Amino acid sequence: MINKIATLGGYIHEYQKSVANPQDFWSQIAESFYWRKKWDRVLEWDFKEPEIKWFINGKLNITENIFERHQFTRGDQPAIIWEPNNPKDDNRTLTYFELFTEVKKFANVLLGLGIKKGDRIAIYMPMVPELAISMLACARIGAIHSVVFAGFSANSLADRINDAEAKLVLTSDGGFRGSKITPIKEIVDEALESCTTVESVVMVQRTHTKVNVKDGRDFWWHDLMNYASDNNKAEEMDAEDMLFILYTSGSTDKPKGIVHTIGGYMVYSAYSFKNVFQYSDGDIYFCSADIGWITGHSYIVYGPLLCGATSLMFEGIPTYPDAGRYWDIVDKYKVNQFYTAPTAIRSLIALGQEFVENRKMDSLKVLGTVGEPINEEAWHWYHDHVGGNKCPIVDTWWQTETGGIAISPLAGIIPTKPSFATLPLPGIQPIIVDAEGKELPGKSVEGNLCIKYPWPGILRTVYKDHARFKKTYFSSYEGLYFTGDGVKRDEDGYYRILGRVDDVINVSGHRMGTAEVENAINEHPLVNESAVVGYPHPIKGQGIYAYVVCGELSAGGEPGITDSIKKGVTKIIGPIAKPDKILLVDSLPKTRSGKIMRRILRKIAEGDYDNFGDISTLLDTSVVEQIVERAQNKAQN
Ligand code: PRX
Repeated sequence: MINKIATLGGYIHEYQKSVANPQDFWSQIAESFYWRKKWDRVLEWDFKEPEIKWFINGKLNITENIFERHQFTRGDQPAIIWEPNNPKDDNRTLTYFELFTEVKKFANVLLGLGIKKGDRIAIYMPMVPELAISMLACARIGAIHSVVFAGFSANSLADRINDAEAKLVLTSDGGFRGSKITPIKEIVDEALESCTTVESVVMVQRTHTKVNVKDGRDFWWHDLMNYASDNNKAEEMDAEDMLFILYTSGSTDKPKGIVHTIGGYMVYSAYSFKNVFQYSDGDIYFCSADIGWITGHSYIVYGPLLCGATSLMFEGIPTYPDAGRYWDIVDKYKVNQFYTAPTAIRSLIALGQEFVENRKMDSLKVLGTVGEPINEEAWHWYHDHVGGNKCPIVDTWWQTETGGIAISPLAGIIPTKPSFATLPLPGIQPIIVDAEGKELPGKSVEGNLCIKYPWPGILRTVYKDHARFKKTYFSSYEGLYFTGDGVKRDEDGYYRILGRVDDVINVSGHRMGTAEVENAINEHPLVNESAVVGYPHPIKGQGIYAYVVCGELSAGGEPGITDSIKKGVTKIIGPIAKPDKILLVDSLPKTRSGKIMRRILRKIAEGDYDNFGDISTLLDTSVVEQIVERAQNKAQN
């Protein structure tokens, strides 16, 4: 079992140990897992190449570390508590024993469908226990899962299926979200029209929506499980074999397939879970994220289950049937640790105090946030009204690429400060650099956040595109992993994340690449070109502001065109990418070399119409005046 850090002194000691001798440090933690064969060497790395390998030649299966390892001590303990969308429907609890049985059975189903070690499987499912079962069954047989958030469009799903060359899609008939039903299988059918690698589809029956069943390709989960044996021996995997691919948006081009490998991810997700949330045996832990994002992978499924925790999984949304739903769940199950996104907190604040006031929530010990900076107002509301002034808030900074939480308080151990992610976890060595990559001297500095030494959870590559991996993360500053975030460190050495410094927008805690949204807008037949920037949004953190050039139509502000652009983006990417504001303009501010000066567009989107700094490199400065005029007119109307 992983030892928990228990005091501030303990943290300082562990941190120093992790920097002085990282390999010994991680090797000791890795020893607490079950390896079929121990590693020969702990770490090989080169950030210039770049190449990173942890626990070299170690052999294991991550599911043996969840199930076989806990079988005798925790068989009857709930592993997953599942709360349905509608509170009146039956909930489900799967003990470790029951979850193990389901995973073994579904692993056999996968084998029966001809899936082999190394095959890729796309999972496009709502938040039902079968989603977690699917991931673990893949891991059991050595298949690589690629979970796609079920809010993405058919087009985005197809892109991800094609990039991963998935052989199988695991999905459901439909999904419940509040009062709506999403036609999940219909979206899969549409996606599959442009996919050639998929041989089979397995559907969970959730909403009983009528679906197309393609003979020989589509199967019902329950039919296949009826005949599946629960006898399954886990495949022996190498520590550096791929565990999963998870696509995330970048500043350029299409989403990248972030690759995590088994050994390092296992050690890091479990270690960070236990320490950040200070999980104790018997606690009920609830993370409200969707498993379609990294937070759900690391802190609903792998981290908690590797620690033998009880992980609560919620199918629905925070406002159904009313804005007190999270708090009802906390009371219903006596949740001890609750982990959510600042955007959810802000939207609940906006809906009124009464929803939080008439719930008890006295079981809570720890609150967490993730995905975006938390503003002080939301922090205090969360602390006072949800946590009853007694729960530490862990503001956890990390990324799909880091695999697990990298900078965060350890609950109750590292003193918190609103809007600061505070200190690095043991094993994480942050460094703040200027634009040239020079380390900024002193404690209290502001610059670009890099990490100078590998930790076990770091991504290993971008799927099928190692060159992009190198370019995105290791080329900005030689020898350093660049996070893409700006950061400020104060006199206490505390880190405050300032947000992305690249062309990525953080919308409701989700990453959107501006280029991706622009490409979707440009698909509109009337659009000539566009530029997308983020702007401060009271609920979402950042909203999407699109400047769109539609030739002659821009001048007249053609009614209806903005609506059809929004619809188009929703169809191409999904509702999360829908621009909040669209301004039709005659042209975009470009430099003489043809580059769009986004800095100006960001200012205008923020409502700042004057402070543009040096614009002498612009080809035509009158463009800025025109845009300002149009933005001002729009703001007044
Ligand atoms: O900009 C940072 C922001 O979210 C980005 C990572 O996004 P993603 O890979 O989708 O993962 C989100 C969940 C881990 C980061 O580069 N971010 C994440 N956590 C925080 C944050 N910004 C400020 N404070 C945080 N706690």
